[in-house]
Amino acid sequence: KAPVITIDGPTASGKGTVAQQVAEVLSFHYLDSGALYRLTALASLKVGIDEDDVDTLVELAGDLHIVFREGCVRLDGEDVSNEIRAEHVGNRASAIAVHGALRQALIARQRAFRVPPGLVADGRDMGTVIFPDATLKVFLTASVAARAERRYKQLIEKGFSAKLDDLSRDLQARDARDSQRAAAPLKAAADALTLDTSGLSVEQTVETVVGWFRE
Ligand code: CDP
Repeated sequence: KAPVITIDGPTASGKGTVAQQVAEVLSFHYLDSGALYRLTALASLKVGIDEDDVDTLVELAGDLHIVFREGCVRLDGEDVSNEIRAEHVGNRASAIAVHGALRQALIARQRAFRVPPGLVADGRDMGTVIFPDATLKVFLTASVAARAERRYKQLIEKGFSAKLDDLSRDLQARDARDSQRAAAPLKAAADALTLDTSGLSVEQTVETVVGWFRE
């Protein structure tokens, strides 16, 4: 089986940026599992499906035509790379991610990314549920203040408007929901290495993870 590095952690902990760069350094594939939840969320908003209508959400998730290519993602042929980053889509993603049946419906799509020469998988349950036999499991954390600041910059760069207070409140609500849900709650795998990135640059974090992998 191809090697897998899992990078899990709370919202805006820097997982996405770090995971992509680690994948680049090692020439591995990259799985943004959060994007799958965001794509399902976006599609559900477009079609007008209630966030608790599990059966319809599962059906929708099975039918989505998703293509990741060169840093862009297409949903049924349309480039939605920016659209899925909107804060309301992230909140909807977190709301539908509580449903165990929906999570099940996305498992095979995620495991299909594990192909040579290897994979870096970013999410909440990569090390605990999707790739329990991963080569290296990393759990990234950062203070609420550091994460709100990062999310703020990210949204402004993408042309969205944002307020630091609202983001800080949103991300704490999302943390609570992600860690308290019954289905695959956010937590470090027993064999994960934890790294607090509050005072670290992206480069320092990437170096640490690549160093652990090469050890
Ligand atoms: O980092 P951020 O929370 O903004 O976004 P994301 O990683 O794109 O994930 C969006 C939402 O999907 C999260 O808040 C989680 O509730 C959910 N998610 C999940 O449950 N499991 C995953 N493997 C990835 C994301």
